[in-house]
Amino acid sequence: TYIVNEKCIKCKYTDCVEVCPVDCFYEGENMLVIHPDECIDCGVCEPECPPEAILPDTEPAAEKWLALNAEYADIWPNITRKTDPMPDADKLQDEAGKYEKYFS
Ligand code: SF4
Ligand code: F3S
Repeated sequence: TYIVNEKCIKCKYTDCVEVCPVDCFYEGENMLVIHPDECIDCGVCEPECPPEAILPDTEPAAEKWLALNAEYADIWPNITRKTDPMPDADKLQDEAGKYEKYFS
């Protein structure tokens, strides 16, 4: 499966949603997640994300995000259409520690 990490927080560009063939993105207040049981590992979303928030879960950096993606994909609503990014998306794209500061 692929996962969404901290770089999506407060950005939500949603370009990823537009290309996913199985519509397995789920939307929270300020971040999207991928449903690990629904993702077919096609990889087409990975290069679409401006802050590079999407990674295959085989990458060491992805490990801690897999549980979070699985947990919230079961709770948050499905998103299938691109929307406007969050207001400060461009400004916060490269900010570190977004999970601690903004995740909700
Ligand atoms: Fe969707 Fe493919 Fe990305 Fe998985 S890897 S979330 S199936 S676009
Ligand atoms: Fe988030 Fe990147 Fe998609 S910022 S909404 S994972 S395009």
